[in-house]
Amino acid sequence: MLKISPKAGRVRHALISAALGTVLLSGCAGPGKTFTKSMTLGGKKVSARRLNSGEHLFVTYCSACHGIKGDGKGPASIGLRPPPRNFTQGQFKFAAVASGRLPNDEDLLRIVQKGLHGSAMLPWNDVSGRDIMDIIQYLKTLSPKWADKTPGEPIVPEPDPWGAEREAEAVTRGMKVYHGMAQCLSCHPAYETKETITAASIELSKREAVLRPDAYHAELKDSDYGYKLMPPDFTRDHVRSGETLEDIYRTIASGIGGTAMPTWKGALPDDDIWALSYYVRSLIRIKGTPEADARREKLAQTLAVPSHDDTKAN
Ligand code: HEC
Ligand code: HEC
Repeated sequence: MLKISPKAGRVRHALISAALGTVLLSGCAGPGKTFTKSMTLGGKKVSARRLNSGEHLFVTYCSACHGIKGDGKGPASIGLRPPPRNFTQGQFKFAAVASGRLPNDEDLLRIVQKGLHGSAMLPWNDVSGRDIMDIIQYLKTLSPKWADKTPGEPIVPEPDPWGAEREAEAVTRGMKVYHGMAQCLSCHPAYETKETITAASIELSKREAVLRPDAYHAELKDSDYGYKLMPPDFTRDHVRSGETLEDIYRTIASGIGGTAMPTWKGALPDDDIWALSYYVRSLIRIKGTPEADARREKLAQTLAVPSHDDTKAN
């Protein structure tokens, strides 16, 4: 079902790339961007041939959005929310490494091949893995971070301790950890009544729950990208880096680089990270249903302060 939009998008940026290609060809020897020597990037030696190939492919496929200089300001970037990544910052969101560390090649390959759902970053499954790898090596020349740092240690999950037979148990445990221990609801919405949240908090953390005034909606957060980010409401918004259990586990365990979303691996036992993944998946499964919307509104009303303006619904 994602088939149509990638095609339409591809045609659009093929046109833009063609326009950009003309600009680049006319200034081919260009601003010092033709590589004559191999470089060490993220601790790995990369040949000049790969970098030149990567540059050419980047200009063709990626620069419409990510910009000729890789600064995220390509002609097709205007109005995109979230905006395309600025590769000169050397900062990435969705890698399976601790937040703030550089991604491994496998991370970048996965992200480029699968795309980021709900953003303009579409799956590039018609470009060969080898070509994408060339582009990835070239991306590393755009930020000085890759010259002196190596990628983070890959975060590898322990085997799923719950399994399909214990799914219901995992979802219940995940619900309690989400609301009563890991404080996911300090940024993301809460999905339970105040009583249930308080019970979970007392059971797992031995303290009363603290709810934000608007606990049933997400709260806008600062990021290192120069714009604020809204944490997703899993019953309403896209989860960008994939919706399988393994994808959700990876996101929660690693956190999201450059954003408020922290790394949970090590901070929570692995069983609980898996339980949270089951719980978040159960929310994603009811995404967009009238029941989920009705439930959100009903819960929100339980927190409405009647004093100021009780004639207006939110
Ligand atoms: C139509 C616009 C568009 C095109 C073309 C495009 N991207 Fe993106 N890309 C985006 C947007 C938007 C984001 C930011 C998504 C976000 O922040 O969640 C992004 C993010 C990324 C990221 C960052 C992932 C992370 O974890 O932070 C990488 C890497 C990336 N793109 C690589 C590429 C490559 C390689 C190409 C060419 C093969 C490409 N993109 C083409 C729009 C585009
Ligand atoms: C301090 C704020 C904060 C906390 C606490 C937090 N998150 Fe997030 N989370 C965010 C933000 C911000 C984003 C969106 C990042 C973006 O748009 O790029 C996000 C995104 C996500 C995503 C979606 C990633 C994707 O692929 O698009 C998942 C899943 C997630 N969080 C789960 C959790 C869980 C589970 C917890 C608790 C264990 C949690 N978060 C705690 C701020 C937070």
